[in-house]
Amino acid sequence: MQVELRHVFKSFPHNGHVVDVLHDVSLTVAAGEFVCLVGPTGCGKSTVIHLMAGLERPDRGQVLVDGTPVTGPDPSRCVVFQDAALFPWLTVLGNVEFGLRMAGLERAKRRERALEYLRLVHLSRFTRAYPHQLSGGMRQRVAIARALALQPAVLLMDEPFAALDAQTRAVLQNELLEIWELARPTIFFVTHNVREATGLADRVYVASSRPSQLRDVERISLPRPRHAEDPVLLAHQHRILGFLGEEIEKVLREELGETVHFPEAQHETPPERSPGMHI
Ligand SMILES: Nc1ncnc2c1ncn2[C@@H]1O[C@H](COP(=O)(O)OP(=O)(O)OP(=O)(O)O)[C@@H](O)[C@H]1O
Ligand SMILES: [Mg+2]
Repeated sequence: MQVELRHVFKSFPHNGHVVDVLHDVSLTVAAGEFVCLVGPTGCGKSTVIHLMAGLERPDRGQVLVDGTPVTGPDPSRCVVFQDAALFPWLTVLGNVEFGLRMAGLERAKRRERALEYLRLVHLSRFTRAYPHQLSGGMRQRVAIARALALQPAVLLMDEPFAALDAQTRAVLQNELLEIWELARPTIFFVTHNVREATGLADRVYVASSRPSQLRDVERISLPRPRHAEDPVLLAHQHRILGFLGEEIEKVLREELGETVHFPEAQHETPPERSPGMHI
């Protein structure tokens, strides 16, 4: 399934005035493609996910799936949120089976499908555990298994690994790529992490600060798994960080006022680490 935003504008009311969040945003995720979106904090990345999921409507412009306007949520488009929102009173197995029951699968099929996907994310030994008995990484795996078990044509992932340590994140990134290569869902993946985006995506969109417009799109043709030190990958990261560096500077100026001093060098050499962005 192809997902598309066409000249989308979105604003929200805030303290009696209107905050422009998305300003004429157009992007396309082709069927079976893996696309990442990176951008400074608060620029509207989650809003893009919510629009694609059908949880929000654009003020102007269109959100299309295979050319048809999105009018609401649909099981063919699953969202994985940043904090694995599991049901605490259900076991791991119960959490994965829950969505399948909603989708109308009969009992035996539900069990079989849930176990299959828990195996894929290496949680077969924890099917009877409750969410509070799991680590953050394990809970996130359950959330991913729950979404994947529905075999959605489109997977919308909102910073799914942001709260995890680097090692767990790397493991889950590899698992996600393996699953994507098997089933080839369309994946739209939001992240702050430039290294994560370039490691995963076919294409990376770079958003500006609010009101958000797309500044750049990098096509990354390197085969996977990609090597962290690959000079081509590093060149992509450098370009993206260049765009983001300027945008994050803008956000900081807005938040902290003009008293903040930014070293000139930052324009030429993108920062290793900046607030709201990680590499
Ligand atoms: N439902 C809503 N009602 C009012 N304001 C909203 C709503 N959703 C988002 N916003 C505002 O829109 C702006 C963009 O929010 P959004 O969550 O899309 O940004 P983001 O890029 O995902 O940020 P972060 O990187 O921190 O997750 C913020 O100023 C937020 O307060
Ligand atoms: Mg967000």
